[in-house]
Amino acid sequence: MSEMFTGKDVTSVYQGEFVGREIIFLDSTTSTNDRALEIGQQRPEPGGIVVVADSQTSGRGRLGRVWISPPGVNLYFTILLNPPLPVQEASALSLAAPVAAASAIRDFAGLEATIKWPNDILLSGKKAGGILIEAKPREGGRSLFAVGMGINVNMRPGELPPEIAGLATSLMAEKGAALDRRGLLGALLASMEKTYKFLLQGNKRGLITEWIRLNSTLGRRVIVRDGKRTISGTAEGITGQGELSLRISSGEIETIRTGDVTILK
Ligand code: BTN
Repeated sequence: MSEMFTGKDVTSVYQGEFVGREIIFLDSTTSTNDRALEIGQQRPEPGGIVVVADSQTSGRGRLGRVWISPPGVNLYFTILLNPPLPVQEASALSLAAPVAAASAIRDFAGLEATIKWPNDILLSGKKAGGILIEAKPREGGRSLFAVGMGINVNMRPGELPPEIAGLATSLMAEKGAALDRRGLLGALLASMEKTYKFLLQGNKRGLITEWIRLNSTLGRRVIVRDGKRTISGTAEGITGQGELSLRISSGEIETIRTGDVTILK
């Protein structure tokens, strides 16, 4: 078993009021989002449970991509959250999660992490982390959310397939030193507790302000691909649901729900 999970009480990583009520450590699993959603089906009160794995055999990213998840180097975890809010309000989780990740990396590692819309975590313009939020409807019009985070901590970018190696980085590659994964996990969970409280308090304005402070997309000329279409324009704003406001060539604003952004020079 990895050093991350041994020698210390596993519950000492972090325990908040809403996040980390219980932390389940696995050596290897298909995807921590799968395990978390399964637990969500089995337990009456799954909100706050965190599933962490040292490696994943079918780690997945957004838009059907694979998330490369080798053992011993990175963080792969999923936080189950059951906000007592209508889905429209709960969708601000797509702001709360990247804000939590970027600010925890800044505080813990002293690196200038930024958010690329919708929720990539960048260091020096390269991807160091990603977030996949999946939802399962529950009774009363509420949903259970599985917030999956993958952070490249101590991986060498050379370990990635050549087609993504040039676009990706890790905290270690940027810092020039390995980081303590356990400590970073604790910082990420504490940060998520903080931004989740903003959400519960209905403080969408606070989340948007923080997202704007940490983002590296707004004000840039971008191309957005969503699988069906490709649109270019200037990224002008973010909505409370995490949608991107894009000013297109006609001068009109398009509101984009999902997609992948390429930032133009
Ligand atoms: C992306 O950038 O496309 C999102 C990547 C999300 C990866 C994490 S790793 C933990 C959790 N389990 C998964 O299978 N995916 C997420």
